[in-house]
Amino acid sequence: MNITNYSVVSEFVFLGLSTSRPMQHFLLSCSTILYISIVLGNLLVVFIVIFDLHLHSPMYLLLANLSFIDLCLSTLTVPKMISDLYSGQNTISFQGCVFQIFMLHVLGGSEMVLLTAMAFDRYVAICKPLHYLTIMSPWMCIWLLVGAWIIGVIHSVVQLAFVVHLHFCGPNEIDSFYCDLPWFIKLSCTDTFKMEFVVTANSGFISMGTFFLLIFSYIFILVTVWKHSSNDLSKALSTLSAHVTVVVLFFGPSIFIYVWPFPTVPVDKFLAVSDFLVTPILNPAIYTLRNKDMKMAMRRLSSQL
Ligand SMILES: *[C@@H]1O[C@H](CO)[C@@H](O)[C@H](O)[C@H]1NC(C)=O
Repeated sequence: MNITNYSVVSEFVFLGLSTSRPMQHFLLSCSTILYISIVLGNLLVVFIVIFDLHLHSPMYLLLANLSFIDLCLSTLTVPKMISDLYSGQNTISFQGCVFQIFMLHVLGGSEMVLLTAMAFDRYVAICKPLHYLTIMSPWMCIWLLVGAWIIGVIHSVVQLAFVVHLHFCGPNEIDSFYCDLPWFIKLSCTDTFKMEFVVTANSGFISMGTFFLLIFSYIFILVTVWKHSSNDLSKALSTLSAHVTVVVLFFGPSIFIYVWPFPTVPVDKFLAVSDFLVTPILNPAIYTLRNKDMKMAMRRLSSQL
């Protein structure tokens, strides 16, 4: 291809979730309400866990960190989507797009590790209760968190290292409301077969592997509880079902976006809504508002105010 024919792409256009005006109004109001609830709900979780000393246990500290990541993940895509829906101006600069991809994978990778750490925490608490305090020490918590962020950054850098050299010379329309690698790569005019493989391997297989690992560990925990005493089973079930719901809703869309081999089915962008608008609200809703310790902490805090 002749270099002079390149018209350098400096911005991308999002096609968004829908082109119909009434549908856009509906999406605008829904996502605004959900986003406000996500911000308030997750800030509330972080606030309660940090200020209530009774909740300084590994489980709640990890939960607060998960809330923080969820909040960031939502903030990375949803405000932009809301402003696009509001103004009808759906463009993003090239740098903005790359930044969104980078942060998306840092946060997504960290959240994946954090969910695994939370499963490990429940495993120790339920299957090795006598060793819980020695295994899940404050240092262990900090190491798990530092590990989560480091793995997130490495995962993201590795992916971007493969795509920074891509050339963009023609189409610049992204059939979604945010930038992510599968769409980004498809717009390039370089041969991208190898890159698609790298993305599938790095994002797809990792999320699929983690997903099955988590599901199996939850089944393992349940079977262990069930063998010990059937009394504890219902309590363990209610805790673990919350974890499993979050795991399914978080990994389901990612697996679909990266591994589904038929890109012509345009459902991935709708599934992505789940990661940015549904999972982040579920976390405060199911872990916190249904949880006795959290409710008591809220009462203690409000009586101090
Ligand atoms: C994350 O967890 C650490 C302890 O392991 C805690 O000190 C920190 O406050 C938590 N971060 C948030 C945002 O809750």
